[in-house]
Amino acid sequence: MPRIRSIKGLEILDSRGRPTVKATCALQSGASASASVPSGASTGGAEAVELRDGDPSRYGGYGCLKAVSHINGEIKRKLSDRAYATQAELDRALIDLDGTADKSRLGANAILAVSIAYARACALEGGTPLYRYFAEMLGQPITRMPRPTVNLFSGGLHGGQQVAIQDVLAVPASAGSIRQSLEITHAVYTAAVELLAVRFDAPWLTADEGGLAPPVNMAEALLELAVQAIERAGLTPGLHVSLAVDLASSHFFRNGDYHLDGKTLKSPEMIGQLRDWASRYPIVSLEDGLAEEDWEHWPELCERLSPGTLTLGDDLLCTHPRRIEKAIHSNACNALLLKVNQIGSLTEALEACRLARDAGWMVTVSVRSGETEDDWFSDLAVGWSGHQTKAGSITQSERLAKYNRLLEIEQELSLPMIPWPLMA
Ligand code: PGA
Ligand code: ZN
Repeated sequence: MPRIRSIKGLEILDSRGRPTVKATCALQSGASASASVPSGASTGGAEAVELRDGDPSRYGGYGCLKAVSHINGEIKRKLSDRAYATQAELDRALIDLDGTADKSRLGANAILAVSIAYARACALEGGTPLYRYFAEMLGQPITRMPRPTVNLFSGGLHGGQQVAIQDVLAVPASAGSIRQSLEITHAVYTAAVELLAVRFDAPWLTADEGGLAPPVNMAEALLELAVQAIERAGLTPGLHVSLAVDLASSHFFRNGDYHLDGKTLKSPEMIGQLRDWASRYPIVSLEDGLAEEDWEHWPELCERLSPGTLTLGDDLLCTHPRRIEKAIHSNACNALLLKVNQIGSLTEALEACRLARDAGWMVTVSVRSGETEDDWFSDLAVGWSGHQTKAGSITQSERLAKYNRLLEIEQELSLPMIPWPLMA
């Protein structure tokens, strides 16, 4: 049984230049490993609490020294020199030590960093690749690689708010491998850059996850540009490359209305708008099409988008098992966006994943907009048999760490990619 010798924490910086938490876990056997945690910008209201120092004189209040001091103090004292039979036991010890429902005392950032560093150290001790350790947690063999969905254009909180919706992603539907997915995405991304150069005088910006943020002010313009970029790359929209859209609509929902493209829409009108886009563009997945407070309209959205377009819940679900159960019972969605740091431990994220899979949902394993060079995400997406991944664009090293690790795993396992169209 792995016995913990010591644990330590460190404040490091993420891809936005903001502090985050890294933990190192050393076992008595000598195996030692580290993990760092990401951070969202477009966060759901029910997410576990990332503990920030709130001291305006350091990093605008975003410092993580308190979370790190909890690792170096209480967590280290409680867990060191103890043996845990399973990941679930270790996670339970962390959750009990914190004692709050939202991990606000020790910080979900502190807890998750330790949870993953421990997983990695155990995998190392057992001589097992991390993806295999995750597959053993799930209790299912790995039979295929997940299909990437890759950020092309961004607006919303990720792109400077020039347009309300957050991300338009390319889904390389015709790819048979991770390698081909990246080749196809590169062709489309390059064509998109050329297209923007021809179309706009003003320079465009890149968003937090490396998506292009062109100076348009209508959401539909991003969909139109995406289709044109696919065609410019010599590919067929809907055949070679489809689209996924993350509206992150909680962020333009105020007092019961959606404020989109200069219009004020009630929920049924918003659903009508989304249905219209899904019928005119090759959209295979719509994430957070409605706001997280708008539970009562999600079932209608899900029904009207089926069967051609997935209804994917991110802010709505927050990778929270109880929220996922509620969504299953009310038919509010049919796909989970799984972000481990929304719930704050591997064991609880696994429960979320299991619930979704058992209900016949698709699972898209996702990074956050604030990331580090750590690549545990890729092992997790493969080990937990995610249907799709969402790791941002194909620029910026914190994103490429994930894609490059997926390439490595693909080479090691020689497994086919999940077939298209997706099946539960
Ligand atoms: P976040 O957004 O990581 O900034 O919260 C990602 C998403 O909404 O999917
Ligand atoms: Zn989202």
